[in-house]
Amino acid sequence: MSKILVTGGLGYIGSHTVVELQNSGYEVVIIDNLSNSSLEVIKGITNITNKKPLFEKLELRNKLEVESFFKKYQDISGIIHFAASKAVGESVENPLLYYENNLNTLIYLLQECKKNEINNFIFSSSCTVYGEPDSLPINESAPVKKATSPYGNTKQISEEIIQDTCSVTNLKSIALRYFNPIGAHDSTEIGELPLGVPQNLIPFITQTAVGLREELSVFGDDYSTPDGSCIRDYIHVVDLAKAHVVAMQRLLGNEGDSNFEVFNIGTGRGSSVLEVVKAFEKVTEQKLNYKIVDRRAGDVISVYADTKKANEVLGWKSEKSMEDSLLSSWRWEQKIRNLK
Ligand code: UD1
Repeated sequence: MSKILVTGGLGYIGSHTVVELQNSGYEVVIIDNLSNSSLEVIKGITNITNKKPLFEKLELRNKLEVESFFKKYQDISGIIHFAASKAVGESVENPLLYYENNLNTLIYLLQECKKNEINNFIFSSSCTVYGEPDSLPINESAPVKKATSPYGNTKQISEEIIQDTCSVTNLKSIALRYFNPIGAHDSTEIGELPLGVPQNLIPFITQTAVGLREELSVFGDDYSTPDGSCIRDYIHVVDLAKAHVVAMQRLLGNEGDSNFEVFNIGTGRGSSVLEVVKAFEKVTEQKLNYKIVDRRAGDVISVYADTKKANEVLGWKSEKSMEDSLLSSWRWEQKIRNLK
């Protein structure tokens, strides 16, 4: 049984991935600094899988802490690196924090990979590396465009750091470029726990529906899309989590075509903000308060994935529908507000 280190394993995507790894027979050790997560998540994971993952509270920005972690755990076969800051607006306000959090931590981990001969590394990347696409759906050979935020830049630079490392060490890595993850585990044991006012669409919708926010602002209805609102590829977080398991199997089985590979992880379907609002109203059978406001600075108009490479090479495909995803987000929101 291989032991996998999951950094940021108590976070939104991390926790769902830990569940899928444990369900597939892997032993998992989580490290997390609890900056945007809670110890309660360990209970949720344990309830779903009947197995408590190993956990170390650790600050990845502290090189000495990282070194002592790897002295303690000498049997790690692979790493899935989620731990990072992810708020686009905050990264514009505080770029140095983002470069420190997202790049130093990666460098310390890769140094330990080299030292300890841990050669299998999965990185959480983002469709943000494509910027505004020239054509849709977007595939992995589309150019990486100048990032519009320090957050986006950390994803681009991280991919480069990993690729450069792969070319001179034994490291093999897969960068998964996520589209927009939404939804929660069907058990409602784990889900997204945004701090403060949510910046992302779905938690803002569910918090509005539950009465925590007065109304949703739809950022623009005058874009060059069929209904004027922006289009994204919303993928259920459990489907996304499963992609990490197949990617890890590919690395551990030495099946890669090269030492550094990238895959789009999305559904291949684009949905507009207004379509999401309508779908949410339909599955929850209630009206959502919303108003159209100005465009949000930095938003791309439309982006959705060409998933052919992930489908054919990884043998992975998203399975859940938009309705499944929204319903699970809604159930989760009701549960954490003690309404259900
Ligand atoms: C952004 C980043 C993505 C990052 C993600 C996580 C870009 C291009 N994308 O995704 O890389 O991983 O954040 O934080 O930088 N919307 C509203 N009202 C709201 C909130 C959102 O209308 O209150 C709209 C947005 O304008 C957008 C869509 O909903 O069209 C999705 O927004 P959001 O959930 O914030 O994700 P992205 O901006 O696509």
